[in-house]
Amino acid sequence: MAYSEKVLDHYENPRNVGSLDAGDAGVGTGMVGAPACGDVMKLQIMVGKDGVIEDAKFKTYGCGSAIASSSLVTEWVKGKTLDEALAIKNTAIAEELALPPVKIHCSILAEDAIKAAVADYRSKRSAGDLPSASEY
Ligand code: FES
Ligand code: FES
Repeated sequence: MAYSEKVLDHYENPRNVGSLDAGDAGVGTGMVGAPACGDVMKLQIMVGKDGVIEDAKFKTYGCGSAIASSSLVTEWVKGKTLDEALAIKNTAIAEELALPPVKIHCSILAEDAIKAAVADYRSKRSAGDLPSASEY
């Protein structure tokens, strides 16, 4: 199957490959797998005090379309609020990359990874909102 030029561009020059410190309170980590093919995607966001995503990194063990989808969304989420990031739809990713129908699930993986990263960040925050006695 022929990949689109945008997929090849992200595949050959992936943006934001790497890891953020998952132990950092400002970092949310999303790890998702695609049952259809066994590919795995890790996507992390670093959220600033103003609630805006300052940085994003990914590691994807998967096909070119999955790598391109995760590379693209790390670019898209930077500078967005969490709610704006949650509004990113896999259909927009698939459209931008001109993914064929058989590769749509690769873009769904990227959407799911963002949602998982935001959920992880929020659960860490709500846990942190409960002050422990030892802090005082
Ligand atoms: Fe995912 Fe081939 S099916 S890499
Ligand atoms: Fe399964 Fe791309 S993520 S083929």
